[in-house]
Amino acid sequence: MKIIGICASPRGKKSSTMTLVKKGLLGAENKGAKTVLYDLGKKRIKFCTGCNVCYKEGKCIHKDDFQEIFDDILTCDGIILGSPNYINSVSAQMKVFLDRLADSIHCQRFTGKYGFSVSTAGGSNSDSICDYLNNTLHILGANTVGKVSIDIGPNPDGFSNAEEQAFSMGEDLVEAINAKMTWPDQENVHLEMKERMKYLVTQNKDEWTHEYMHWKKQGWL
Ligand SMILES: Cc1cc2nc3c(=O)[nH]c(=O)nc-3n(C[C@H](O)[C@H](O)[C@H](O)COP(=O)(O)O)c2cc1C
Repeated sequence: MKIIGICASPRGKKSSTMTLVKKGLLGAENKGAKTVLYDLGKKRIKFCTGCNVCYKEGKCIHKDDFQEIFDDILTCDGIILGSPNYINSVSAQMKVFLDRLADSIHCQRFTGKYGFSVSTAGGSNSDSICDYLNNTLHILGANTVGKVSIDIGPNPDGFSNAEEQAFSMGEDLVEAINAKMTWPDQENVHLEMKERMKYLVTQNKDEWTHEYMHWKKQGWL
């Protein structure tokens, strides 16, 4: 089993979010998983230009560090996403990465994968950053086992508890994958997304040939 951690703080070793992502990976390793960590702060990922070439051809016009991470994701079982709260949203590093996944959403490429999200904030709203990240995993087709968020300013003594939570969620992630767990509310999101994306891809089948072929190949049409 392979679990990938993706951290989008630019602060590298000084990052609190990175500490939580690493704790999650350690928890997963404790249950027998192999892990890989990507530090988006050290990667060069260009903005999506909205050219739709990925919808047609299944590959991006950009040649940068995205493809290496994406190829690894396709072969992984679980993903831990981490971002600090930057102006009540994910960091730019995370958003640029997520925008490159539009074709993956149309193709529901994370179907069968599991994940969770972590976030830290100086003052507030780390919880809603996790909700956004988990929702993104859901609309890609993945299930999530929870979230670990901490607003560090108001909880100066709470970080070690967040580290423990992240470790134990890493363990939960491996267990959920082994048990192929499902949750009714997330299943509803997956059903709704499947219907919406099926309609979208079918409507655009003459233009978005790669996506239409992907859906056919999956036996979803
Ligand atoms: C550009 C920028 C924007 C930020 N915006 C917010 C914010 O809106 N709300 C907040 O509570 N903290 C905000 N912070 C503080 C970070 O969320 C906080 O320091 C976080 O723990 C940093 O995570 P890191 O150590 O993983 O880099 C911001 C920090 C930076 C540098």
